[in-house]
Amino acid sequence: MEEIKIFAPASVANVSCGFDVLGFCLSPVGDEMVLRKTAETGLRISKIEGQDLPMAVEKNVAGVAAQALLKAYAAPPSGFEIEIYKKIKPGSGIGSSAASAAGAVFGINELLGRPYSPKELIKFAMEGEKMASGTPHADNVAPVLLGGFTLVRCSSEPDVIKLPVPEELIATVIHPKIELKTAHARSVLKQQIALEDAISQWGNLAGLVSGLYENDYERISKCLVDKIVEPYRALLIPGFKELKTGAQDSGALGCGISGSGPSVYALSRGEKIAKSVADSFSEVLSKVGIDFETHISPINTQGIRILEER
Ligand code: HSE
Repeated sequence: MEEIKIFAPASVANVSCGFDVLGFCLSPVGDEMVLRKTAETGLRISKIEGQDLPMAVEKNVAGVAAQALLKAYAAPPSGFEIEIYKKIKPGSGIGSSAASAAGAVFGINELLGRPYSPKELIKFAMEGEKMASGTPHADNVAPVLLGGFTLVRCSSEPDVIKLPVPEELIATVIHPKIELKTAHARSVLKQQIALEDAISQWGNLAGLVSGLYENDYERISKCLVDKIVEPYRALLIPGFKELKTGAQDSGALGCGISGSGPSVYALSRGEKIAKSVADSFSEVLSKVGIDFETHISPINTQGIRILEER
């Protein structure tokens, strides 16, 4: 294979009780990337459309992630170039940097004949995340590379578990068009937490995981709670409290901040409720007076997909 075009989807990290460990993949929104072999050795980013991002490999998350892979893979047979068609806005909270980083390593791995498994690609993609936010978290890149819901049991030596997805689960995401950098949204968090809050959080995380395994929507709903991170980050998102109340009143199973925000997500049982959540989200942000975009999406169990290859 000489060239591959891929779709690298957006994702929702944290999912309320799973800060830095839980995430799921969205379907309708994502970047497109073209990766091709070149006669000239080395790696270069030849085109970026849609956003003003650095073309220099060492300053671009896709470049950094791809370099990490190529460094580990001794003697790549050719050079590579990457074109990025950016549809996910950086600083939106739906995994913009993760899509680029995961897309780059996925595409190069395909061109190399798949020397690495999707799970093995996670550690390379995390290098891009490290550059983007200062922390090599895997809760966005893992669901993009593996699809569905993923749990990062350990991120230093990445150990990621793919979780089951109850069929009727639908996500609603609203993206208020303001930029919130992950590094800033991390800087507002406390480094020490109360034991009581930790107990509540790990109870909810374990409960949510068991709810996914057992298709137990009621349990999933009870567990979509975040006592540790949300109270601090909510202050950075205009209308967050009203968005959450609106989602709950519309029948969502739960609602919280998507990744580090400013996007807000809700999970619902069935599309009808997911749509009325989207309406309530839109109503709130129209009143606040912020431009926004909403997405209604089944959980994307496939993750990155190949659009064309030759
Ligand atoms: N877990 C990360 C955070 C996700 O919340 O900072 C960033 O998208």
